[in-house]
Amino acid sequence: MRADIKLERDNGISLDRQIADGIIKAIDDGLLRPGDHLMPIRQIANTLGVARATVDAAYALLVSEGYIQTARGKGSFVSTDFPQAPSEANSSENTQSKPVSEKSSLLRSAMSELLPQKNIPLAIVSTSADASPGKEFAAILQRITRKSLLDMVYSHPAGLPELKLEICKIASRLRGVRCSPSQVVVTSGSQLGLTMTLLALFTPGDKVLFEDPGYPLLHSSARLCGLDPVFTPIDKEGLNLKTGLAMAPDAKGIYLTPSHQCPLGMMMSMRRRSEVLDWASRTGGWIIEDDYDSELRYGGNLPYPSLQGMDSGENVIYVGTFSKVLFPGLRLGYLIVPERLVELFSGLRLLIDRQGQELYQAAVAQYIREGQYEPHLRRMRQIFEERRNYLLEVCRREFGDWGVFSSGEQGMHVVFTFKNQNIDDHAVQRLCLEQGVETRHLSSFYHEQPPLKGLVLGFGFFNESQILSAVSRIGFVLRHNFSAWA
Ligand SMILES: Cc1ncc(COP(=O)(O)O)c(C=O)c1O
Repeated sequence: MRADIKLERDNGISLDRQIADGIIKAIDDGLLRPGDHLMPIRQIANTLGVARATVDAAYALLVSEGYIQTARGKGSFVSTDFPQAPSEANSSENTQSKPVSEKSSLLRSAMSELLPQKNIPLAIVSTSADASPGKEFAAILQRITRKSLLDMVYSHPAGLPELKLEICKIASRLRGVRCSPSQVVVTSGSQLGLTMTLLALFTPGDKVLFEDPGYPLLHSSARLCGLDPVFTPIDKEGLNLKTGLAMAPDAKGIYLTPSHQCPLGMMMSMRRRSEVLDWASRTGGWIIEDDYDSELRYGGNLPYPSLQGMDSGENVIYVGTFSKVLFPGLRLGYLIVPERLVELFSGLRLLIDRQGQELYQAAVAQYIREGQYEPHLRRMRQIFEERRNYLLEVCRREFGDWGVFSSGEQGMHVVFTFKNQNIDDHAVQRLCLEQGVETRHLSSFYHEQPPLKGLVLGFGFFNESQILSAVSRIGFVLRHNFSAWA
């Protein structure tokens, strides 16, 4: 055989792949032509000093990729119509000139601007051995995997009935949501649920009010869906509907985080809630209620029940997630939609994604049904409250004179607003990251010129010594780079 194959035993590529690639190269270089016989397996194995099974596996790869054929009594020979490798010049020219979606710059900027934080202090969402449902959840997952893999088939796009039932129970008990299990549509985290809601309820070009500051990931999803987002300023009572409608009298919907404004943390006042519910029933507008972390509340503080629970049942899409209380990597969230929209949302899920991952759905249903969810939540609240208090105490000690803390007594983050608004909070974030500390700069949540600059700090998943060390590094960054603005 006229192939010069050199094997490297520790380059991370399997030997069968290296042999197959050597033969492909010989074909591409014209050293082996269509119809040429390959050496018998035993002979190549001896020549290269490898096991026959390795050469066997290499030949199997070449057969499956169409480069060689085998025939009884004839051995193996180069295919007469093997795949042609495109010439390098052509392929890169084509890739550059081929048109892609007009949304490509939005998609690229998502990857540069909206990637999740690193899993280091003080990231907002993470997991940790003491605050995440480790062993118990893993045991359920193992049991389910052993028992029921054969039952995992194509199923209803709205989710497993047993999970819908449990979601309905916890949402009514913990958040005052009024629903029946048939109104639940399980999604891959709230990101899919929110994007599905924008697609199902609105038409490209529709104006929808969004909070400013607000949840940046969703702002980009709105643009992806072709909507015209209208960024409405937040004040201490939450989103002001009148201001929003002055900019967009024909708005078709409103997205809200009424229980814990993202990121500033206030609860939307009762007066503002009544205004939006009244607007929705008068005009036919939709309310999207993102209730992303209000199960986590501290200091005996009770959030208002969900907006959905205050509504007649026709105006609000309630969006929940297991990312905060269980794990973000589960990718499990849910929508609670008016009965008449269930078919619409189920059809949308079917077209986008067919259905969710049944294994995780079954495991979470079991975790809740066994009564483990609420004790876990209580444990989490206790740990998070202690850590939140500790973070506030050490931050005040370390750099308290640089600004003020705000945010409601719930969730997983606090907001520190700089007294001196000339401080470039993006630069602070970057310098903190160089010191191994994650923060989010407050300006990144604003669409319009940010009236407030500061840092958003997570506290839940890191122990006291990690918090202390991260906070002193933030203090160091401020003192060494911004002392002129102190
Ligand atoms: C406002 C808001 N909504 C929802 C989520 C949860 O997203 P998901 O359920 O897709 O993980 C987050 C996570 O950070 C958030 O900040």
